Amino acid sequence: MPARPLIDAWAEALYGDRGFYRQSDGPAAHFATAGQGVPGVGELFASAVIALADRLGATHILDVGAGRGEFLSLLHAARPSLRLTGVDVVARPSRLPAAVAWVRSRGGSAMPALPADAQTLIVANEWLDVVPCPIAEWDGVTWRDVLADGALGGELAGPEDAWREQWWPVADPAAGDRVEIGLPRDRAYRDLCSRGALAVLAIDYGHLQGDRPAGGTLIGYRGGVTAIPRFDGSTDVTAHVAMDSLGAGELFTQREAFSRLGIQAPAPSLDLARTAPADYLDGLARRTALAAARDPGGLGGFWWALSCPLAGPGTPPR
Ligand SMILES: C[S@@+](CC[C@H](N)C(=O)[O-])C[C@H]1O[C@@H](n2cnc3c(N)ncnc32)[C@H](O)[C@@H]1O
Repeated sequence: MPARPLIDAWAEALYGDRGFYRQSDGPAAHFATAGQGVPGVGELFASAVIALADRLGATHILDVGAGRGEFLSLLHAARPSLRLTGVDVVARPSRLPAAVAWVRSRGGSAMPALPADAQTLIVANEWLDVVPCPIAEWDGVTWRDVLADGALGGELAGPEDAWREQWWPVADPAAGDRVEIGLPRDRAYRDLCSRGALAVLAIDYGHLQGDRPAGGTLIGYRGGVTAIPRFDGSTDVTAHVAMDSLGAGELFTQREAFSRLGIQAPAPSLDLARTAPADYLDGLARRTALAAARDPGGLGGFWWALSCPLAGPGTPPR
């Protein structure tokens, strides 16, 4: 029996009936993101997304790939008046605040009807990296599709090969070099942009042309550590996102986003340590969390792909 295309095995591993993301423990059991798992960072991240919504004039935030609603709960705590909706592949999480709406999705590049309107900011944090994509490998002569068992299949062709030529050209490839074809991610991002929302924000780890990783980035996560990616539902399977091919209106790092949105954590005064020690410690903790959120080698290096200029719809980019 011929080996399956890798993209099919990847989709089944994450979103099939026994897929990794359908399991009860949810993504937070396996890795931390800006929206969950790093003390204090989620609250700052929520402030940044709310500041963006305010700047754009959005009154509804729709979180695509919402996990078990961890980030939505933080948004609700920070601004209870905000309309909130989560979308993920599981039934509504039991701990979600009653005011938050929930939509169930099939997963990957498939997206159900979304309650998006002209007041909606769609946010997708670390979603595109788990939208499966084809991978091609240089065999010494040509680019070939990598199959689910790691063997090489047919020669890369059609729109996938055109995408590779345009977005991931390799001047002098060595045998074993890999290219992760971002076309399904581009289409998924553009699909969100076509749903009638005011703006779409996809946040992810990724790369730009001129800085693509030669060996590819496919990796697994399980239980808080990286793992060999397995296509049996036992690990996450993720690859970095080619951010510049998405077609965003503006692309900037999370570090820059926090600065431009005015998210700050001034050093608490030493006087406060005497008069209100708990507030002093809170101030220090917020400062530490902001440093983590803005770390260029960590969360601060994540890319924000915003469908319109940060200054607001209709305003030209800086
Ligand atoms: C890497 S996790 C990120 C979770 C969360 N956004 C966070 O920042 O912690 C990706 C999430 O996207 C969800 N997902 C993948 N494809 C989806 C789709 N088409 N619609 C809704 N959720 C999807 C997965 O089930 C998973 O919960």
